[in-house]
Amino acid sequence: MKKEFIIAGNWKMNKTVEESIDFIKELDDKIEANEGVRILIFPPFTSIYSISNLSDKIKIGSQNIFYEDRGAYTGEISPLMLKNLVDYVLIGHSERREIFKELDSDLNKKIKTALRHKLNPVLCIGETLEQRERGETLKRIKKQIDEDLKGLKAQEIKSIIFAYEPIWAIGTGETASPAQAQEVHGFIRKLLEEKVENPEDIFILYGGSVKPENSFDLLSQKDINGALIGGASLKVDLFSAIIETSCKIAK
Ligand code: 13P
Repeated sequence: MKKEFIIAGNWKMNKTVEESIDFIKELDDKIEANEGVRILIFPPFTSIYSISNLSDKIKIGSQNIFYEDRGAYTGEISPLMLKNLVDYVLIGHSERREIFKELDSDLNKKIKTALRHKLNPVLCIGETLEQRERGETLKRIKKQIDEDLKGLKAQEIKSIIFAYEPIWAIGTGETASPAQAQEVHGFIRKLLEEKVENPEDIFILYGGSVKPENSFDLLSQKDINGALIGGASLKVDLFSAIIETSCKIAK
């Protein structure tokens, strides 16, 4: 069966507007359009407007969203402000969960808000090193999925993209082995089997120190449908090398 991929770059709190524009232009020049590979960039909010229409090959998403449409929420961004600028929204990145104390109940509201506004949620889940060492990885993943998807209909769950990001592998240079990642991806797919028909159609991305050197082995795993890339998405050469790898496998 032909494999399709999503290769996504999460820039986190990096790149000015000018740097973002330069990156998108350079990447657009460098890559070929490929039907089997969808390319997404999650820039800082300040760059979204300037790059949202720069390339037909690169889709744009936001790194966060608030669950109310408007009101006295200083510093937050409403889905109404993102409509027509982005198609995707990251929800529940571990940095949002850990540093900004976002709870699964908040993320559940954010997913519902995104869906209401026809934005595709990219839901991040993953365990800490302590949880992995205690043998609680799968229990943790199940808890996050159950709580984050509470009250959602099957049809809504089908428009969510999942990203498994083991927290111990983010920005550390340490990657989950392809077998470790596949084990969790297979488990996520099994959980989704209980919630939707055709769970094989759902994209489950891997994130955590993905680089050109390890991307082939990770993307070749049965249940890995793409990558969510932090550090290596900041350099056109590294990010485009991972895109090229995915194009070879998708062929
Ligand atoms: P790194 O690729 O830098 O480990 O970051 C992964 C990540 O958090 C993407 O959302």
